[in-house]
Amino acid sequence: MKEMDFGKVGVLYGGKAAERKVSLVSGAAVCEALKSKGVDAHLFDTGTQDVASLQQENFDRVFIALHGRYGEDGCVQGLLEQMQVPYTGSGVMASAIAMDKVMTKRVWLAEGLPTPRYMVLKADSDPLEVVEYLGLPLIVKPAHEGSTIGLTKVTAPDQLAAAYQKAAELDSSVLAEEFIAGMELTCAVLDRNGVPEALPLIRIIAPGANYDYHNKYFSNETQYLCPCGLDAAVEKTIQDYVLKAYKALGCRGWGRIDVMLRESDGQPFLLELNSSPGMTGHSLVPMAAKQVGLGYEDLCVTLLKGATLDYIQHKKD
Ligand SMILES: Nc1ncnc2c1ncn2[C@@H]1O[C@H](COP(=O)(O)OP(=O)(O)O)[C@@H](O)[C@H]1O
Ligand SMILES: [Mg+2]
Repeated sequence: MKEMDFGKVGVLYGGKAAERKVSLVSGAAVCEALKSKGVDAHLFDTGTQDVASLQQENFDRVFIALHGRYGEDGCVQGLLEQMQVPYTGSGVMASAIAMDKVMTKRVWLAEGLPTPRYMVLKADSDPLEVVEYLGLPLIVKPAHEGSTIGLTKVTAPDQLAAAYQKAAELDSSVLAEEFIAGMELTCAVLDRNGVPEALPLIRIIAPGANYDYHNKYFSNETQYLCPCGLDAAVEKTIQDYVLKAYKALGCRGWGRIDVMLRESDGQPFLLELNSSPGMTGHSLVPMAAKQVGLGYEDLCVTLLKGATLDYIQHKKD
């Protein structure tokens, strides 16, 4: 295979999830980048175009630039397995587990990896019991959403019911977590030639330490530091946890883990793994890749090179 000979490449973008708008930007940027490298890349919006037309496109491989439900959770990955079209990023199982914050924590805890203590919340959960176990403040969030949607910081027991309600409107599974006060970090993982490597950490400084939807995508005040400024040994410790956590979920290709570094004792906590992270010009994985000398276009090509299947049944003619 020639360097850029990937055949006809589909860039799946848009989709039906809450992050549709971000994905539209990610996909357009990825497609442009691939084209600039001589790849025969085509955009395909899974939110407006149907499965039959995806089949008709006869893509040889696919770059998944979708975020959230249907795109990041194993659904589209399963479809591509059925169609035997190699795709970027994690396979069906890892995508599905990573999309579910409770399942992710169960795996990480079983592997001895640090993640904030949590409880699965139900409509009849006793607020005092929850507060007694997790302390205050605490975080309530839906298990399957991203972009801080439906997330509440609870500072008193009588706020818990409303916080649960807000998350439960979006998701059948809701969790509460102990609040970790400290530095907010994120760490990208990239497979180069099949070997996953943790990229340099990015430190996120949001106004009022509130990294919500607005501050994530629209604020000019949110700062991103890469290099993150931490001591090299501390950074390495976190990167080691991140790599273990990535492997524990069975991820592939790439991913990004959000981390809180507790101020009181320097203990890192893994929050979640994004298996199909943002790829806009301002996104965090491209920022970290740049730090190791990998520009946006080359990052896209590296990811596309790694496209594969969980089950390779037969060669396509
Ligand atoms: N346990 C926690 N302690 C402190 N801050 C948290 C905690 N959980 C979430 N946050 C904050 O909320 C943001 C979003 O939470 P996260 O678990 O990454 O979900 P998502 O990004 O999918 O919405 C984090 O980046 C962090 O700023
Ligand atoms: Mg996050």
